[in-house]
Amino acid sequence: MRGVVLIAGVAVLALIGFGAWWMYWPHQMDGASAGGPMVDVVVPDLSAQARRGEAVFNENCATCHGRNAAGSEQGPPLVHRIYEPSHHGDGAFYRAVGLGVRAHHWRFGDMAAVDGVSERDVAHIVRYIRELQRANGIF
Ligand code: HEC
Repeated sequence: MRGVVLIAGVAVLALIGFGAWWMYWPHQMDGASAGGPMVDVVVPDLSAQARRGEAVFNENCATCHGRNAAGSEQGPPLVHRIYEPSHHGDGAFYRAVGLGVRAHHWRFGDMAAVDGVSERDVAHIVRYIRELQRANGIF
């Protein structure tokens, strides 16, 4: 008897979970167009260096890439498979900030170079993004 209740419970939970997933996907893009994040990001305990990166990021990058690099209606999430270190190494960050980025993965348009962010700042940002990525299974 207990086993049956347990199985029924698990089945109901699975159904609810599936329902939530099903409803959630289309809404994610709605969230982005309303200024919300594009992806869910788990924020780990950040190192001191990453926290410095977070501050610079929030100041200079989050308008487009979103808080916690989760994306926005103006730019893609950097906590995303596309930006795993083997596809976009750290050099991509220095290039993006120094030279800008021509749109090639998304449809947000080009990213302009960002003034007033030093190489050292970028190093901190890279650390920040990599720690976020790692906590979200991207490495
Ligand atoms: C005005 C909006 C905007 C701002 C501000 C911005 N970005 Fe971007 N960024 C974009 C867009 C849009 C793309 C995606 C281009 C594509 O691939 O379609 C992008 C792409 C990138 C990429 C990927 C580069 C590549 O090689 O594909 C990196 C790394 C990046 N941004 C880092 C940053 C950092 C760090 C900052 C802050 C110092 C920043 N961005 C600020 C809009 C922005």
